[in-house]
Amino acid sequence: MNLTVIGTGYVGLVSGTCFAEIGNNVTCIDVDAKKIDKLRQGIIPIYEPGLEAMVKRNFENKTLKFSTDLAVNLDKCDVAFIAVGTPMGEDGSADLQYVLQVAKEIGQNMTHSLIIVDKSTVPVGTADKVKSTINSELKKRGVTIDFTVVSNPEFLKEGDAIKDFMRPDRVVIGSDDEKATEKMRRLYAPFFSRSMDRLITMDVRSAEMTKYVANAMLATKISFMNEIANICELVGADVNKVRIGIGSDSRIGYSFIYPGSGYGGSCFPKDVKALKRTAEEHGYKADLISSVEEVNDRQKFVISKKVVTRFGEDLSNKRFAVWGLSFKPETDDMREAPSIYVIKELVKRGAKINAYDPKAMDEAQHFYLKGVEEVSYFNSKYETLREADAMILLTEWKEFRSPDFDELKNQLKHPIIFDGRNQYNDTLLENMGFEYFQIGKK
Ligand code: UDX
Repeated sequence: MNLTVIGTGYVGLVSGTCFAEIGNNVTCIDVDAKKIDKLRQGIIPIYEPGLEAMVKRNFENKTLKFSTDLAVNLDKCDVAFIAVGTPMGEDGSADLQYVLQVAKEIGQNMTHSLIIVDKSTVPVGTADKVKSTINSELKKRGVTIDFTVVSNPEFLKEGDAIKDFMRPDRVVIGSDDEKATEKMRRLYAPFFSRSMDRLITMDVRSAEMTKYVANAMLATKISFMNEIANICELVGADVNKVRIGIGSDSRIGYSFIYPGSGYGGSCFPKDVKALKRTAEEHGYKADLISSVEEVNDRQKFVISKKVVTRFGEDLSNKRFAVWGLSFKPETDDMREAPSIYVIKELVKRGAKINAYDPKAMDEAQHFYLKGVEEVSYFNSKYETLREADAMILLTEWKEFRSPDFDELKNQLKHPIIFDGRNQYNDTLLENMGFEYFQIGKK
């Protein structure tokens, strides 16, 4: 099929590239000419394992093209995906200005019947707004063209995006038009080698809702465990053991019950807020969803509180080695990363920070921690230990899993580790003479 993907952010670029990989002709469109230019040279704006090679391969094979010209590409396409950003608006709702701008341009330029797919995470009712925006542009032009708006939310995880797209847990297609549903089924069929059971079709509004509910459910699991972790500390229990104890119940399961320094990233914080806002707009006070958010906001400060309890309110002569800045491993994404909150909290009390992250240091230095002079960046985890009073682990990158603890002990001023991701064996560390602080165990 001939596909146009509008928006070359995370979702757009991964989706477009993966569709090209299985043989479709894909053109990825963006208004940012510099970005398009770089993509044509094989320079990828984000770090995502496997993406760069796949983009290059498909670009060379001519199955993947990059362009700033929506009009020309709409002319030859069967399905157009809207994959532009839906940032958080001031009131917490999803800001639809980019989605509706694209809808307007589609209405101004489409010349034949086509399927328009909302791939961006958008609140319930957006497909209707996209439809009426396109219709009003067609009316202005005095033309009648048949088109369908489909909701096809994306569930990919950063760091695993290619795998998630090529071998999806499920694909949700929300459409009120049978022909469009059938075409979407054909498009996605190659991603399901055995059965099509996990290609789930439903009405548009339910599909739009599914995306928010999936993310809110996962965020709820995390906040629930973080709350349990805090209670465990108070009552003298070990959340790591409790986690295994409850995860063995197949109704609960082991995934997404790891306590930590709070969830971050581009989806959970934004989507939880937007779902709460949607409920409010319909006169419903979503107490549970509000609490998920509150618990998460608090959780980001648990580690800095532990540091203050150990070293005192005044940290002016203290320096901390911070391992990990990105919101999770295998990404350079710093959006809503706990590291931002922890570092700023410590710096506020006078501390100096030696930071290291395998991929996110540029993002941190130039955007999220820009102007925070107290942070120095190093090229390896061990270099951060120089002159540091303690080590603080905030992202569970693989290279932090089994460090040389003797080196840590020799280099740090005090053998102290604050672990925001519960990565280490406490007995081992305590036997080595470390003071080891983790989440959910006193
Ligand atoms: C998430 C969803 O998983 C994905 O389906 C959706 O499309 C986008 O949002 P992503 O933001 O890439 O994906 O990250 P994910 O791996 O889900 O982790 C989200 C956050 O939860 C991270 O901050 C992570 O550290 C945290 N987390 C995850 C926990 O604190 N504990 C866990 O047990 C799992």
